[in-house]
Amino acid sequence: MGLRFIFMLTRNDKTVEDAEQHLATALAAGVHHIGFKDVGLPFERLKDLNKAIKDGGATSYLEVVSLDKESEIASAKAAVEIGVDILLGGTNVDAVLPVLKDTGIQYFPFPGKIEGHPSVLSGTIDEIVESAEQLAARDGVHGLDLLAYRSTENGTGLMAAVCVAVDKPVIIAGSIGSRDRIEIVRKSGAAGFTIGTAALDGDYPADSPELEMQLRAIQRDVAGVNDHISPYGPKSLVQSFAAFTDTWNPRIVGQVNNMHVKLAKFDGAFTWHYHESEDELFFVHKGRLMIKFRDRDEVINEGEFIVVPHGVEHCPVALDGVCEVMLFEPTSTLNTGTAVDERTVSDLEHV
Ligand code: NI
Repeated sequence: MGLRFIFMLTRNDKTVEDAEQHLATALAAGVHHIGFKDVGLPFERLKDLNKAIKDGGATSYLEVVSLDKESEIASAKAAVEIGVDILLGGTNVDAVLPVLKDTGIQYFPFPGKIEGHPSVLSGTIDEIVESAEQLAARDGVHGLDLLAYRSTENGTGLMAAVCVAVDKPVIIAGSIGSRDRIEIVRKSGAAGFTIGTAALDGDYPADSPELEMQLRAIQRDVAGVNDHISPYGPKSLVQSFAAFTDTWNPRIVGQVNNMHVKLAKFDGAFTWHYHESEDELFFVHKGRLMIKFRDRDEVINEGEFIVVPHGVEHCPVALDGVCEVMLFEPTSTLNTGTAVDERTVSDLEHV
C-alpha cells in the first residue's frame, strides 16, 4: 500500500472559509483523501462539504482539534451525523469509542498529550510511544494520528519509534511541507500524512503557489517516494529538443529497463563505427537522416525509424542541416561504438 496523502481543507487547524472552492480544485487534481476539522465552519456546511467529498469519489476525514472532552464528544457525534469515513485526532478515547460503535467510521486518535491551538504534542518519545501502544491495542481504534512535527521532541525519531511500536496504520499530521519530509514519513513506515496550510498558502515547492499546482507537486512527490507508483508524466519531444543546441552530444531523456531513450542533434557526417553488442534504434523527429552502411545508404525521414543491429558498421549523416534524432539503445552504448575519438561522449547529461 502506498503512502496516503490527505489534503486538509484547513489552515492553522481551522477549516477554511472557502473550503468548497478548494475542494473542487482538489477533486479536479485527482486527490482521493480529503479532510477538514471540527472548527472553523458551522455543522451544516461541514455536512455539505463531506457530501461533496464523497460525491467526488474521495474518502473523507474529520480531524478533531477541540481539546475539552465535551467538545470532542460533540465532534464525534457530528462525525457520525455527517457520515465521515475516518475520524482523526482527539484524545478522549473512552468517551469517543461508544459514540462510534457500529457506525463503520474508522478512528485514529492522537497518542500522547495534546495542548494548545494549533495543537502541540508534549511529552518524551518514550511517553508518546507508550500512549501509542495502549491506544493501538484497543478495539475500535483503527490507527493513530501522530503530530510528529508538532512535538517538542525530534519529530523524525518520534515518528519512527511510534511506527515500529504499533502494528496499526499511523497518519502523520501537521507541518509537512517538502518532499524531504514526505520521504522521511515514508521511511518511518507511516501509512500517510496530511497537508493543509502549506498547500493552501502556496508554500509547498512547486512551479506555482496556485493550489492546483501545489496539489499536483505533492502528488508527484508522493508518487516518487511510493516506488510502485509511477513518477513519470508525459514528456514533450519538442520541448526536450529545445532544451539544448549542441550537436553530436546525446542527452538521456528516459530509461526503459536497461535501455536509454536519448535525444541528439546531428549536423553533417559522424564517425564510422559499430557496436560490439548493442543494437541501436534511430527515430527521426525533425529533419532527414542518412545512415551509411558499407553496402548501401538508407534515408530516414521525419516520423520514421531504423534499427542498426550490433556488429554492423554504420555512419549517421544529417541531411539538410540539423537533424533531431531520438535513440533507443542499451545503457552501455557509447555513441562512437568501438571507434573512440574526440566526439565520444561517455558521461551523458539528462534533459
Ligand atoms: Ni552507432
